[in-house]
Amino acid sequence: MKNIKLPALFFAVAMCASALAQTPLITNIPARKTISLNGKWQYIVDPYETGFYDYRYKEMKPSDGGAYWTTDVPKDKSDRKEFGYSDKQTLNVPGDWNSQAEKFFYYEGTVWYKKSFDFTKAKPGNRVFLHFGAVNYKADVYLNGHKLGQHKGGFTAFDFEIADSLIKAKGNYLVVKVDNKRFKDEVPTLNTDWWNYGGITREVNLVEVPGSMIQDYVIQLKKPETTNAAPEVEGWIKLNHAAANETATVEIPELKMKKTFPVNGDNCAVNFKLPGVQLWSPENPKLYKVVITTSADKVTEKIGFRTIETKGKQLLLNGKPLFMRGICIHGENPVEGRRAYTSKDAAMLLSWAKELHCNMVRLAHYPHDEKMTRMADSLGILVWSEIPVYWTIEFTNPDVLEKAKGQLNEMITRDHNRASIIIWSVGNETPVSPARTDFMHSLITKAKELDNTRLVSAALEVNGAGGKHVVDDPLGEFVDIVSFNEYLGWYGGTPNSCRTANWEIKYDKPFFISETGAETLGGFHADSLTRWSEEYQEWYYKEQVAMFKRMPDNFVGLSPWILADFRSPKRNNPVYQEGWNNKGLVDHKGNKKKAYYILRKYYDEKTAK
Ligand code: GCU
Repeated sequence: MKNIKLPALFFAVAMCASALAQTPLITNIPARKTISLNGKWQYIVDPYETGFYDYRYKEMKPSDGGAYWTTDVPKDKSDRKEFGYSDKQTLNVPGDWNSQAEKFFYYEGTVWYKKSFDFTKAKPGNRVFLHFGAVNYKADVYLNGHKLGQHKGGFTAFDFEIADSLIKAKGNYLVVKVDNKRFKDEVPTLNTDWWNYGGITREVNLVEVPGSMIQDYVIQLKKPETTNAAPEVEGWIKLNHAAANETATVEIPELKMKKTFPVNGDNCAVNFKLPGVQLWSPENPKLYKVVITTSADKVTEKIGFRTIETKGKQLLLNGKPLFMRGICIHGENPVEGRRAYTSKDAAMLLSWAKELHCNMVRLAHYPHDEKMTRMADSLGILVWSEIPVYWTIEFTNPDVLEKAKGQLNEMITRDHNRASIIIWSVGNETPVSPARTDFMHSLITKAKELDNTRLVSAALEVNGAGGKHVVDDPLGEFVDIVSFNEYLGWYGGTPNSCRTANWEIKYDKPFFISETGAETLGGFHADSLTRWSEEYQEWYYKEQVAMFKRMPDNFVGLSPWILADFRSPKRNNPVYQEGWNNKGLVDHKGNKKKAYYILRKYYDEKTAK
């Protein structure tokens, strides 16, 4: 050690730390052999992080008996333990902590979760991974007193491989330190218009896979090179610890398609035509059983096949012009006031969108639970999926860019076989500056590297003054669809200002209104000039619809803000908000407001055309 130069020492430490980073993401968890760790977990609230730092504020080591990730069982009767897990304090997993007990409602800080479990592998040669659907925001994960690793990012999945030496047949001690404090150099940053729900907010599973496993794959149609090009799959299969001379077989029984491909290292390129395939669309959300087999592993998934592209000012789904009748949705069950994570939550939100006669949803402002995107596949609802690069992110900080790229990669990796997803969004309403445009442009480049079959967009900025509204955001040069949010008649003027509004889109591309909306307390009625009344919101939508009808011809759709009221700490009008942003077309009792029917009427007219 004496002749190692200091930087090398730091590098060595960094390498150890990064070795703790999570392992490559296994996808299609529902198809794997899993043991659920959902249910009641014991917890300790730790606002001072007493269980993590010693009294000199140094991260504690295994030998420090007070760390909350070590055993809470005293060695003997004289041993001093000033912490412990008990059934007196349990939280449901999955689920945010804010909605589970009054004391957690506004809590931002650390909560330690603990779960004990027994485990024996089904087959000795198998490998075991611990998989989290999402934890908001930072998770430090320990098993039997050993740190598996850390993950940051509140809305994307991650996993850690568990070495055989670490897991016991009886009494495994899994501890997760969850910290949802906000920081300016995180993604999202300090300021958001949504509730900072903390906790293990999505499912936790032990996943058992063969020693040589199918880790991930893309089986999607490539963008057509010519009009009416025959449907062709161009994808790949990623193995992990592939056997020598391995091959991978892709089978789609209903199409009588079965083809075997050579594996090179852990990689396998996949390419085949799909004559006779029924293309997935909102009108016909056809999904096919796809079976991928190698010498040691086999996974099955329902996949839809469609193409999405832009051509000049047009947006084309399966080669035909598409108008997106959308609505924005937060990942929240508004009736129960909590993070959405169940199939019932997904069914409620997506059925409200279907009842609104939508063919598209913008899942704001972060990747939603996987049940939402899988259900959108089945219901035939197009999806815009977004990472929370929201408002005033630290655009000059390279670490923040890496964090954003990491979340982009995790979002796309989990969902790149979802036919419903047609747009990856790299952010929302980010203030224009050279650093911001460079930051967002590199995210767009990264998204296209990760997935060249879908479109990339973001909610851009609008220059509006005196009735003239110009969309010339420099980021418009790099997105496939020019999208922007406008609140004409809510954040500026009254709804009649829509009548004289002129829109100029500085790009010869399709454009999309990614947000528009007005706030009303469901059930409050007055004349249309009375702000916060349902009549004001109804008037707003009437004027907006009249304006949509005058939009330039490259207008390809909208996703008004928002399907349902949602919690926000920024909304504190004591009569009309009380900690809720009430721009929903459905209120937080599940009642439809008058404006709901104005938008649905417009969507019916668009469908009739
Ligand atoms: C913004 C933002 C939303 C926010 C909305 C509002 O456009 O994108 O996240 O909730 O406006 O002000 O209600």
